[in-house]
Amino acid sequence: MPESVSEQKTLYVVVCAAGPASEVGTLVGLAQDRGWTVQIMATPAAVSFIDVEALGKQTGRPVRSQHRAPGDPRSPKADAIVIAPATFNTINKLANGIADNYVLDVVNEAVGMGIPTIILPFVNSAYANRISFNTSVEKLRIEGIDVLIGPGKFEPHESGFGSNAIEEFPWELALDRTVNFNAEK
Ligand SMILES: Cc1cc2nc3c(=O)[nH]c(=O)nc-3n(C[C@H](O)[C@H](O)[C@H](O)COP(=O)(O)O)c2cc1C
Repeated sequence: MPESVSEQKTLYVVVCAAGPASEVGTLVGLAQDRGWTVQIMATPAAVSFIDVEALGKQTGRPVRSQHRAPGDPRSPKADAIVIAPATFNTINKLANGIADNYVLDVVNEAVGMGIPTIILPFVNSAYANRISFNTSVEKLRIEGIDVLIGPGKFEPHESGFGSNAIEEFPWELALDRTVNFNAEK
C-alpha cells in the first residue's frame, strides 16, 4: 500500500438507489485495503439509502450528491470510477448522455475524458430484459466502460427477490477490475 495519503490514487464510488446501496461501506473498506482514497458520489435518490455520516467518517471525505457551493473544497480528481450498485435508471441515462444530476454530470464528463469506469449493476430480470437496457449496456461497452453483467458477473435476480440477492452482490469483482489503474503515483 502507498505510504502516505498524498501518494494514493482516488477512486470515485458512485452509489445509485438500489438495494445494496446501504452496504456500500463494504466496497469502501475493500477499496481502502487496496490503497485507494475513496470519494463517495451518491445520486439524489441514493442519499436516503445510505448512511451519509458514517460513509463520510469512513472515507474522511464528505459524500457528494450536489454541486459544490462557492468556496467549498473540490473533490480530488478521479483516477478510476466504480458505479455500484448501478440502477436501470442511471445506466440508461449515462448511456444516452443525460446529465440531470450532479453525479451524472461528473461521470458523463469523466467518461469523455477517458477515465476508467466500471459499472456493477443491480437490476432484476424484468429490467434486464428491456431492449432499452441492453442497448444501453452495448453503448457503454462501445465507449470502453466495463459493464459487469452476465455469467460470472452480476446476474439479474427475479423481480421481487432483490433483498435475497443483496448479500451475494459481487463488490469485489468491481474492485478487481480497478487493479490496473491503481499503480503508485
Ligand atoms: C426500495 C427501493 C429499491 C429499489 N431497488 C432498485 C434496484 O435494485 N435496481 C434498480 O435499478 N432500481 C431500483 N429502485 C428504483 C430506483 O431507486 C429508481 O429508479 C430511482 O429513480 C433511481 O435513481 P438513480 O438512478 O438516480 O439512483 C428501487 C427503488 C426503491 C424505492
